[in-house]
Amino acid sequence: MSIFVLCFLLIFSTSLFVSGQNQSAYEVLQKNNLPGGILPHGVVKYDLNKKTGFFKVYFNSTCSFPIDSYKVKYQSTISGYLRTGRVRQLQGVSVKVLFFWVHISEVYRDGDDIDLSVGVASEEFSVRNFENSPRCGCGFDCYRAVSSF
Ligand SMILES: *[C@@H]1O[C@H](CO)[C@@H](O)[C@H](O)[C@H]1NC(C)=O
Ligand SMILES: *[C@@H]1O[C@H](CO)[C@@H](O)[C@H](O)[C@H]1NC(C)=O
Repeated sequence: MSIFVLCFLLIFSTSLFVSGQNQSAYEVLQKNNLPGGILPHGVVKYDLNKKTGFFKVYFNSTCSFPIDSYKVKYQSTISGYLRTGRVRQLQGVSVKVLFFWVHISEVYRDGDDIDLSVGVASEEFSVRNFENSPRCGCGFDCYRAVSSF
């Protein structure tokens, strides 16, 4: 093998490695102009197809917590298609509206707002709400409780 080929392989494999997997799911969201806090704490791993944007995010268990007056539930595996500022065909996240669990199908950024869409309706929240990832159970309010630490 010539030195040239060897160098090429080395550079190629290095760049593959660097551009590869070592970002957290939260960082991937931020790179796509979405706040990391739309995912709760506790991501175990994720898969992302960089071509199609199809992703799967794995948690150890289901996770639910309040957002304002709503209750939101994440299944232990969620999936969807990631684009800049938008997640489409989201699977595995639902919100309780009155007595019913409704599937959140889309999340998108609208300026300083994050819209959570359930198909026929959507609800806007300030991006600032999602600066920190919520924790299962107490959600975003845990931070107020522990912020003195
Ligand atoms: C890459 O990810 C692995 C597993 O999450 C971690 O152990 C390692 O420290 C990371 N490396 C860098 C350079 O971030
Ligand atoms: C998920 O569960 C495994 C095995 O019980 C544990 O080692 C790991 O720390 C857990 N990960 C998270 C993010 O809770």
